[in-house]
This record gives sequence, C-alpha cells and structure tokens, in this order.
Amino acid sequence: MADHALLASGRDADVYALDESRVLRRYRQGGDSAPEAALMAYLAAAGYPVPAVYDAQGPDLVLERLDGETLLASMLAGRTGVGAAADLLVGLHDRLHSVPARFSADPADRVLHLDLHPQNVMVTSRGPVVIDWRNATEGPADLDVAMTALILAEVAVSPDPQLADPARDGLNAFQRRAEPPRASQLRHAVDLRQVDPALSAVEKSAVGRAAALVHTRVG
Ligand SMILES: Nc1ncnc2c1ncn2[C@@H]1O[C@H](COP(=O)(O)OP(=O)(O)O)[C@@H](O)[C@H]1O
Ligand SMILES: [Mg+2]
Repeated sequence: MADHALLASGRDADVYALDESRVLRRYRQGGDSAPEAALMAYLAAAGYPVPAVYDAQGPDLVLERLDGETLLASMLAGRTGVGAAADLLVGLHDRLHSVPARFSADPADRVLHLDLHPQNVMVTSRGPVVIDWRNATEGPADLDVAMTALILAEVAVSPDPQLADPARDGLNAFQRRAEPPRASQLRHAVDLRQVDPALSAVEKSAVGRAAALVHTRVG
C-alpha cells in the first residue's frame, strides 16, 4: 500500500485513502470482512448511517471515505461537548435498535454494534456515521448500551487523566440519557470484554473496576 496514504490505524485495521471518495480498511491479522460488509449494506438500506461499502475481499473493505473526524477527536478539540456527544451516542443506539434483526427468531433481539464508542463514530457533513462493525451481532438492545457504558467506564478508570476525566464526564452524561441496562447484560458485557482478543491483560484487569461505575436496573 506504499502508493496510498495511511489515514488512520485503529486497533485492528489500517485505513488508507484510495482517492477522494474511497478508503481501504484492511485487517492487520487477516480475516473475512464479508459478514461486516453484508451487515453494513443491510443497515444502509434501512437508513442507518454507515459508510457505503463498495467491495469486500478477505480482510479488505473498500468503503465510502467519510469527511470530518471521530467523535473522540471532536470532543478532545472542544468541538463537541460532553452532553452533545452523549446525545449522539444514545440517539445512535436508539436508531440502531429500531432496525429489525436479520437472523434471530426472537422478536426482542436487535442488531447490536457492541463497540459503539466515540472512536467508532465519525462526525461528518451528513451527520454522525458509525464505523467498525467487527463485533456486531444480534441480541438484547440493553447489552449494546451496557457495552458502551462499560467501554467509557474503562477509560474513566484508566491512569491517563487527559482521557479519564472526559470519559468519566461522558459516562455520566451517557448514563443520564440512556435507560440503564439490566445487571445481567452488564455481566454479559464484562464477559465479552474478558474474551476480547483486542484487549491487553492490563486492560482486562480494569474491566471489573470499570463495571462498578455502570448503573444497572433490576430485572
Ligand atoms: N470510512 C472511513 N472514512 C474515513 N476514515 C475512516 C473510515 N473508516 C475508518 N476511518 C478512520 O480509521 C480509524 C480506524 O477505523 P476502524 O474501522 O475503527 O478500525 P479499528 O477496528 O482498527 O478500530 C477510525 O478511527 C477513523 O479515524
Ligand atoms: Mg475502531
């Protein structure tokens, strides 16, 4: 990819500019992006804001190149306030969970992103757009809400105050707006984080402390 500019490197993928309107997202560890591409096409057809998918080949996805920046970058630069960011995250959850599931026979099950945090939202000229559908599945909507709260809480308990302080504010603002998840779904989210290959052992060791910051409801 020497002839294409590296736009960003996330945890799992490198993203290259192909031209003005397309990026290549490549998984560094290989893998198959076809299920993600199919889900993104389904969500786009349902009117949910995702990048258009132009091609999927093994670990490579060719996607619409989004303008703007991640919600995290926008927050850290002071362009999006904590309350507005929490509104965006809650709104993106609500809209996603209004889309019918494709596979599950249980009518309560929804499409879940399971990694919906400020680095996986881009603030663009067409509004907020959700990227990085690797962990997506189907299940109860409040598992997705529990996962976002838990991820924010993990950052809030991290040792870096530059990130921890805004994350704590973000978590509080998110929790004021979102319906608290069931305690069982928070436990499920904790279990998923403990087996997530993207997390280091040090990060995993903080998940329990983070979970203590997440409000739950009984039932
Ligand atoms: N369609 C896109 N257009 C522009 N930038 C993108 C696009 N998709 C991803 N990016 C950039 O690449 C980064 C990593 O992408 P992401 O899909 O979240 O991969 P990872 O799994 O590695 O986190 C994002 O934070 C964003 O800065
Ligand atoms: Mg990401």
